[in-house]
Amino acid sequence: MSKKKNELNHLAIIMDGNGRWAKKKHKPRFVGHREGMDNVERITLAANKLGIKVLTLYAFSTENWARPKEEVAYLMNLPVRFFDKFMPTLMKNNVKVNIMGYLDELPKKTYDVVQRAMAETANNTGIILNFAFNYGARKEITSAMKELGKLIESGDLNSSEITESMISEHLMTGDFGEYQDPDLLIRTSGEQRISNFLLWQLAYSELAFSDKNWPDFTASDLKEFVEEFQNRNRRFGKVDESDS
Ligand code: FPP
Repeated sequence: MSKKKNELNHLAIIMDGNGRWAKKKHKPRFVGHREGMDNVERITLAANKLGIKVLTLYAFSTENWARPKEEVAYLMNLPVRFFDKFMPTLMKNNVKVNIMGYLDELPKKTYDVVQRAMAETANNTGIILNFAFNYGARKEITSAMKELGKLIESGDLNSSEITESMISEHLMTGDFGEYQDPDLLIRTSGEQRISNFLLWQLAYSELAFSDKNWPDFTASDLKEFVEEFQNRNRRFGKVDESDS
């Protein structure tokens, strides 16, 4: 009997290896980031075609501020370049943009451009392209705990009433409803770690790793990863029905 395939609604990607891609080509690191930015558009369109509902991309972590000043400045300007270049394609393909992270800490130009991208695409109904930008999962969980703490202090919540779904809803993915948690996480560049990304939301996600650096990761690579994921046996901590 053929098994039902897993549905891939939310895909998360750690886009790693831009620097190594550039180094291999004897180019400065920013060239890798620029190529990586162009690849975001290609992979978004491919994910949209595959029927994925939410694509979350780790673009800048709360730890990335520690990189050299020039690199941080280049990364902060990437959303400006990205939306300048790709907004017409995003609109044409009905892509809805979301940026999750500590946006108040961004330079004004970056802040303005991401707010505008979210506003301009707010009524689109296709794939949600969700950038994690100035995002860190421990900070996100800490913020959620503070929000719940405030509700307790004001007498609107009793600590015994806290549920897992209440915590999920106070995270930055809270608005994605049934698609809050990624079904699959892909990390490129051969590294195999989570790096403070979606720590709560990844609890039951499938993990996959590509040896390719992000700028080299193609639509056909994505398709292969998705097909492999679809045939995995997801048990969510239960016993496989066919084993019982
Ligand atoms: C990791 O490679 C990549 C980043 C820190 C930046 C990722 C950003 C993009 C791919 C573009 C995002 C686009 C928008 C619109 C925000 P690395 O620099 O850590 O590479 P390395 O590990 O090889 O040095």
